Amino acid sequence: MHRDIDISSLIEAATGVRGLAYAPYSRFFVGAALLTTAGRIYRGCNVENISFGLTLCAERAAVVAAVADGFQTFQAIAIVAETDVPISPCGACRQVLAEFAPDLLVISANLKGRTETFSLADLLPRAQSGILNNP
Ligand code: THU
Repeated sequence: MHRDIDISSLIEAATGVRGLAYAPYSRFFVGAALLTTAGRIYRGCNVENISFGLTLCAERAAVVAAVADGFQTFQAIAIVAETDVPISPCGACRQVLAEFAPDLLVISANLKGRTETFSLADLLPRAQSGILNNP
């Protein structure tokens, strides 16, 4: 299923939108590119807030952009930040991504070109079990 995904284009899209991030407090700029099952790419960047708690991560921004444009099925997300080890999505973003795509391919990359791939199911096991009586 993941064979045909153009991982480098997705990383390139995430790297590009990272430059638009609004992160004056952390100075940690993140870009995300979400690939729909229809082959479209939606981008998101982190948007911080002076209240800190209202900060929106890049991954969730990408989900919101896709859903608002009529797309709710996804096959992969690329996430890019300037880290030594490729960035790992936060727990909140894992849960929001799992709402739509529990087996999503997660591609993490840093600016040096180091990448790692995961299945969201490994990053967040049992994401839906036990909630509202789901088995
Ligand atoms: N951030 C993301 O956008 N995605 C992640 O996967 C990790 C963290 C943002 C939130 C905040 O603006 C900054 O990075 C520092 O945590």
